Amino acid sequence: MEYTKTDVLLKVKDVNLFYGTKQILRDINFEIKDIVRPGMKQGQVVSLIGRSGIGKTQLFRILAGLGKPSSGTVTISKDKPVKAGDMGVVFQNYYLFEWRTVYTSLELAAKKNPALKGKEKEAIYKYAEDFNLTEHLKRYPKELSGGQRQRASIIQQMLNGTDFLLLDEPFSGLDILVLDRVVELLLDVSLSDELKTLIIVSHDIGTSVAISDTVYVLGHEEGKPGATIKKEIDLCARDLAWKKNIRTEKAFIDTLQEIKAEL
Ligand SMILES: Nc1ncnc2c1ncn2[C@@H]1O[C@H](COP(=O)(O)OP(=O)(O)O)[C@@H](O)[C@H]1O
Ligand SMILES: [Mg+2]
Repeated sequence: MEYTKTDVLLKVKDVNLFYGTKQILRDINFEIKDIVRPGMKQGQVVSLIGRSGIGKTQLFRILAGLGKPSSGTVTISKDKPVKAGDMGVVFQNYYLFEWRTVYTSLELAAKKNPALKGKEKEAIYKYAEDFNLTEHLKRYPKELSGGQRQRASIIQQMLNGTDFLLLDEPFSGLDILVLDRVVELLLDVSLSDELKTLIIVSHDIGTSVAISDTVYVLGHEEGKPGATIKKEIDLCARDLAWKKNIRTEKAFIDTLQEIKAEL
């Protein structure tokens, strides 16, 4: 498929993270570029894959501007350091306001987005319909299943209108049918706006590769402390991006093996 990579949208440079003397992350460097496809509104989907406990959530917090690295920088659009609020964040535990109904939580998010002024309700109902949550808008988070909370949390972050959407382990704890639906929805989100960039942090290799255009594999290098990026895989170049039903393709299966070898 035809595509070009243009402007740098996000740049991670020499990020290190220590807790006391223990190094968690070491020399993390990568760039996310704008992908342009002729005649398409193509956003970016990037996954950071690693074993559990490797430091993904710590990196996630740094990318979101919620945590500071011990050294190094994360910059977005024209070398601006990222700060809290620049990115939509969907946490692993699908944080919602427990004392507010889903609708009022979503309304609060929509009101922060100037592009939705006067159209907040319409936008909420449209997303709720797409994400199969219309009937649950009046409910409180504790009345929802894990999958429903997750979808509500994704909508909440999309209503915010940020160009970046960061998701920590979005595929865990979902049953297989819900998982397929979430993958489909996230792909739709990545096609809804050229500027939208999804950054997914996950230990689920198969689903991450199925949904992404680029994956970074986080792992330990022998004899060195902390997790670093051991491999970058450009799935566009392998013709594995933007396709449905790729899980049976040889190139897909080979890619999973290649990633497993690095974990
Ligand atoms: N506040 C903290 N103080 C010390 N170590 C921490 C703290 N938070 C996380 N860690 C350590 O950082 C490492 C990475 O954790 P995390 O990013 O949550 O892993 P992942 O998300 O990949 O499962 C773990 O070894 C964890 O024990
Ligand atoms: Mg984690």
